[in-house]
Amino acid sequence: MRNPLAYEFAALCLLAWTAFISAGEDSTRFGYYGNPDNIEPKPYEWGERAEWRTCAVGREQSPINIETNDTTLMITDIFGLDTSYVPANGSLFIDSANILEVELNGGGRFKIEDKTYYLQQFHFHSPSEHTIDGVRFPLEMHLVHTPESGELAVIGIPFSFGEENSFLATFWDELSLLSQDPDASVSLTKVDVREPNVHLGPAYARYMGSLTTPPCSERVTWTVILGEANTVSQKQMWTYSNRLPYSNARPIQKLNDRKVKRSVTVLNLR
Ligand SMILES: *[C@@H]1O[C@H](CO)[C@@H](O)[C@H](O)[C@H]1NC(C)=O
Ligand SMILES: *[C@@H]1O[C@H](CO)[C@@H](O)[C@H](O)[C@H]1NC(C)=O
Ligand SMILES: [Zn+2]
Repeated sequence: MRNPLAYEFAALCLLAWTAFISAGEDSTRFGYYGNPDNIEPKPYEWGERAEWRTCAVGREQSPINIETNDTTLMITDIFGLDTSYVPANGSLFIDSANILEVELNGGGRFKIEDKTYYLQQFHFHSPSEHTIDGVRFPLEMHLVHTPESGELAVIGIPFSFGEENSFLATFWDELSLLSQDPDASVSLTKVDVREPNVHLGPAYARYMGSLTTPPCSERVTWTVILGEANTVSQKQMWTYSNRLPYSNARPIQKLNDRKVKRSVTVLNLR
C-alpha cells in the first residue's frame, strides 16, 4: 500500500512549482506609479530583484535633468547628428509596461565618431523622462540603436506642445486599433524617421547613462535633443492618453560625477 503522505507531498510540490512558474513570469514585468490597478514593481522597487540590481546601485543611471548651464561644450560640424535613416516596415504595439513601441525592420544608421549603430526600434514615454533645466515635456521618443558590439546608443527627443507632428501622424491613429491585448500589433509600412518630420537638433546633449527600464544596464550613450523644434498637438496627446492614461516615465536619477556635453556648431561660434 502506498503512503497517502506521498500524494500530499507530490501535490505540495506541484503547488510550489506552479507558484514558482507564475512568479517567474510576473517577475520580468515592471510598472510605474499612477495606475491603481497595476501591481507590478514600481521604479523604486525595480532594484530589489537580483537581475535588476543596477536599477538601485548603478551610478550612471537615466533619465537625468539636463542643466544646460552646467554642460561642457562639444564642438561639432554644422550638420548635427550623423544619421542615415531609411524608410522601413515595422510593427506597432503596446508592451506589458504600457510602452508604445514601433519595432523596425532595418531603420538605417547612426554614427557617433567612428562607431556605427543601427536603428532597431523607437518608443514613447509620457510625460518625458529627461527634463531640461527642470522642464518636463508631454512626450519623449526614444530611438534605440544597437551596435555591432557593445552597448546601445539612444536618441531622446522631447516633444513640446504645438503644431501637429506630421511624423507621429503617419501612425498615431492606429493607436485606437490596439486593444488591451498585449499581443496585438499593427503592421506599418515605410516608417520614415528622416527630416523634416523629426528634428535632430538644433542642439543636443550627450552623456553616458543607462536603459530607463529594467535591467537598467549602463554604458548606454545618450543623445538628448535640446530646443523646442519637435512638437506634438494637444489633439495628438489626447489620442495618446485616451489609450495610455498613466505615466511611464522613470523618475530623474542622480548625475553623480558624470559630465553632460552640449553640442555647439561651428556656425554658432562665429
Ligand atoms: C544660465 O546662465 C545665464 C547667465 O548666467 C542665466 O541668465 C540663465 O538664467 C541661466 N539659465 C538657467 C536655466 O539656469
Ligand atoms: C515592406 O512591406 C511591403 C508590403 O508588405 C513590401 O512590399 C516591401 O517589400 C517591404 N519593404 C521592405 C524594405 O521590407
Ligand atoms: Zn525609453
